[in-house]
Amino acid sequence: MQKTFIAWFLLPAVFVNVNAFEPFTVSVVLGASALLGKTIYNYFQESCSDQWFGFNSTGLQVDLEQKLFGQHIASKVLLKAVTGFVNNKNPKKPLVLSLHGWTGTGKNFVSQLIASSIYKKGMSSRFVHQFVATVNFPHSSEIDTYKTQLQQWIKGNVSSCARSLFIFDEMDKMHTGLIDSIKPFLDYYDNLGGVSYRQAMFIFLSNAGGESITQVVLDFWKNGKDREEIQLSDLESAMSLEVFNNKNSGFWHSSLIDKNLIDFFIPFLPLEYRHVRMCALAEMAIQNMEPDEDIADKVAKDMVYSPKEERVFSSKGCKTITSKLEYYK
Ligand SMILES: *[C@@H]1O[C@H](CO)[C@@H](O)[C@H](O)[C@H]1NC(C)=O
Ligand SMILES: *[C@@H]1O[C@H](CO)[C@@H](O)[C@H](O)[C@H]1NC(C)=O
Repeated sequence: MQKTFIAWFLLPAVFVNVNAFEPFTVSVVLGASALLGKTIYNYFQESCSDQWFGFNSTGLQVDLEQKLFGQHIASKVLLKAVTGFVNNKNPKKPLVLSLHGWTGTGKNFVSQLIASSIYKKGMSSRFVHQFVATVNFPHSSEIDTYKTQLQQWIKGNVSSCARSLFIFDEMDKMHTGLIDSIKPFLDYYDNLGGVSYRQAMFIFLSNAGGESITQVVLDFWKNGKDREEIQLSDLESAMSLEVFNNKNSGFWHSSLIDKNLIDFFIPFLPLEYRHVRMCALAEMAIQNMEPDEDIADKVAKDMVYSPKEERVFSSKGCKTITSKLEYYK
């Protein structure tokens, strides 16, 4: 594709100037045309250059405020972490974020928001790589192959573009030990074999830690306190302990935690009825529907709430909103 494109721009110039017998002009025009061809090519084809990146901190902030519900801590920490990292001309290590919480609380969604805030093409950027444990690394017998493969992929991709984003979904279903194979890439090295990983970003998504988070939120709720009063420090230690000591967390006794290579553990709180309603209304807006409070109520009522006694948190968060809305609208 690249060749055809440039050649198309070169042809007339070469033709005209070869006839004129002026070697100097020919090479200048050739050079200029090649440059023009390349510029136009870059214009259409995503490349690893500033014009395809365009971090907008305000844009990310507005997105987090308006589209993510019930996550005051995650919202604040993510905005700070990502803004600080992207604006830092000389980061000492790649940014490593670990997002924890029940399903449907917005972990995947914020990964998309982050990708869109950095890459013009968002999740469809060539520089955003998503791995899903059960899809990409399903067989525990293949773990050694996966380790090699994963290292090669990361090395290959960061070599071709330093500002790459890697998202690992379903960390809790990742075989123990696999994630440790990427430890060197996350560490404080100037470069490894000539490749610097310091501008790359890694985001891990996991349901592990969800139980401890829910317990803290439930205690606040029982004491009649506002959940917005919950601080990161109220959750941090319980969460990272649960993640480190849980055999099914993907991080079980992981050196990533041991060596403090994860910059932020970010809790996603379980969602309540009112948040599910907000998700339903937001989904209506996405589908260009008139906002309908009654339908939002029906959708929210249709979710399963836990724990058994209190029934305050939606077990699947906002996960099945789209299909429920389909049913009631
Ligand atoms: C950044 O995002 C804000 C809010 O979406 C928007 O108003 C502003 O124009 C954007 N700035 C740039 C430079 O794109
Ligand atoms: C980049 O990662 C993808 C997986 O997302 C992989 O298929 C591809 O081979 C990698 N590219 C290089 C150059 O290693």
